Amino acid sequence: MTDSLARCRAHFANGRRVLIGVAGGSGSGKTTLAQELVRAFADDACLVMQDSFYIDQSARFDGDGGSVNFDHPSSLDFPLLESQLKALREGKPVEVPIYDFATHKRLTRTDPLAARPLVVVDGTLILDAANVRDLFDVAVFVECEEDVRFNRRLERDVRERGRTPDGVHKQFHRQVKPMHDAFVEPSKQHAHLRVSGTEPIDVSMATVLELLGRP
Ligand SMILES: Nc1ncnc2c1ncn2[C@@H]1O[C@H](COP(=O)(O)OP(=O)(O)OP(=O)(O)O)[C@@H](O)[C@H]1O
Ligand SMILES: [Mg+2]
Repeated sequence: MTDSLARCRAHFANGRRVLIGVAGGSGSGKTTLAQELVRAFADDACLVMQDSFYIDQSARFDGDGGSVNFDHPSSLDFPLLESQLKALREGKPVEVPIYDFATHKRLTRTDPLAARPLVVVDGTLILDAANVRDLFDVAVFVECEEDVRFNRRLERDVRERGRTPDGVHKQFHRQVKPMHDAFVEPSKQHAHLRVSGTEPIDVSMATVLELLGRP
């Protein structure tokens, strides 16, 4: 792995720019892999999260009532994500929108993000959105069984997002699972690389770095 990492760093030092997409179901382990990549490349990498690009849903959200389908591609501002990824690829800074999960609002302030040689993009639907997936030099799909994904999500949403276990369960079966089966899982066909979301992260990292380190 250290050899591959050194080869990747050499590519970046020589001016190579790489956009890598990390897709997969909710709870599959995307963010874990994306953050590990960013950590490995430090100042050579930046992270863009699909979650920042939710369209403002505050007018429609009704708690766990299910009026907003956060797992459908139409909930996301993919044209804005596309334009920001194009800018980052050209070495230009962007102003990433901030979505507040408590109020379901896009805030008026934004997060400045400087371009880096490696741009890592994390999101469930980034390989479903054609204009976005076409931008990736490397598209990774993190594979993970449904029961593992559900249990990971349950724990996170209750602990970090103030949701009830019953609400999380309902949302999973009404929206997360159907949207996963309709949009996320089929988008796997567009991945250059599939990694397991349950194997140790070093194994997935080694696979990704091997590909990134090729001439
Ligand atoms: N390879 C792995 N082995 C064991 N546990 C893992 C692995 N990858 C991730 N996890 C754990 O699974 C949980 C979910 O991972 P993560 O947050 O990366 O998923 P995600 O795909 O980003 O989910 P979401 O789309 O909901 O944000 C975390 O608690 C994480 O520590
Ligand atoms: Mg995540």
